[in-house]
Amino acid sequence: MAHSDKPETFADQVRAIPGGEHLELCYSCGTCVSKCLIQQRIEPEYNPRRLLRLVMLGMEEEAFSSPTTWLCSECDLCYPACPQQIHISGVIGAVKQLAVEAGHTSPLTPARVDTAACFACGTCIEVCPYKAISRVSGAVEIADPMARGSTLVVEKEYAQVDPNLCMGCGLCASSCLASCITLDGYTDAQIDGQARAVDWSPGWPAPADAEWSPRVLAFVCNWSVRAEADLAHLAAPPPEVRVVSVPCSSRVTPTFLVTALQKGIDGVLVVGCQPGECHYKEGNRVEQARLAMTRNLLDLLGLEERRVQFAWLPTDSRGALSRLFKQVVSDVCALGPVAWKPELG
Ligand code: FES
Repeated sequence: MAHSDKPETFADQVRAIPGGEHLELCYSCGTCVSKCLIQQRIEPEYNPRRLLRLVMLGMEEEAFSSPTTWLCSECDLCYPACPQQIHISGVIGAVKQLAVEAGHTSPLTPARVDTAACFACGTCIEVCPYKAISRVSGAVEIADPMARGSTLVVEKEYAQVDPNLCMGCGLCASSCLASCITLDGYTDAQIDGQARAVDWSPGWPAPADAEWSPRVLAFVCNWSVRAEADLAHLAAPPPEVRVVSVPCSSRVTPTFLVTALQKGIDGVLVVGCQPGECHYKEGNRVEQARLAMTRNLLDLLGLEERRVQFAWLPTDSRGALSRLFKQVVSDVCALGPVAWKPELG
């Protein structure tokens, strides 16, 4: 250790941050890489084993610019697999913290807040799994309620997203009470647009002589379908099913589900990662709790609760998606066509 309080080597700096300990236990077996969905799905250069080695060798700049430093979502699929029980996402988080302190920035696109519409309720702050959102105050331009087309600047509180911590799960957007947070690529309008753009004509209704065939819309988490067999079923679902992709099941709001039924879709399915395997930590559990509330809403609207279903797809699934699609189609067939009959008040 030098005379200053700052640890001398890069490895010591990482170790000094909670989560960064035990770095030296890695013997580069590569089990973490074999478990990692980021490496398999979106970035072949992603490699925790290599990052830990860079740290041990003191290669600071290479570590700071590595995609591994920025793309880890702390899903921790690698943690139970590591024979040395290194909390790898903790080490990566420590490297990321040092990278940010050194002036590096995340390459990911963060969620955006419409500061004029935000009323700083704090819901997004509570739900964010990465503690990326805080409440700040400052000057904000808003529409002048007294003069149409004019704006005025007011001092107000609003939510602010730290772009270096946000991982883009969209849970803030789906939880925002003012609908003022958006995630580019998965805004409400873009997800709704995907659902509306679905073409039901090819292959539907399924049997040519059927009087009626159900239409099932499946909102499928991008990370939940992992086995080759399931990816094939996702690309070619049964004729009664159409798929809308979402970054995490937690991006699906009750509004999407109820709107689909209102538009004449007979059943809606939400597919997420199994417990403990949500790419964004706890999004699947949040969505499951939210769907329980949605069912109450369906009850109020006079619709059968089985029209909206939620399922976790197991990691070791082999053809589970196909079975799931068949089951939901069969359930919706038994219910018959949706009859939109809101009888509120
Ligand atoms: Fe799949 Fe959250 S990432 S449910």
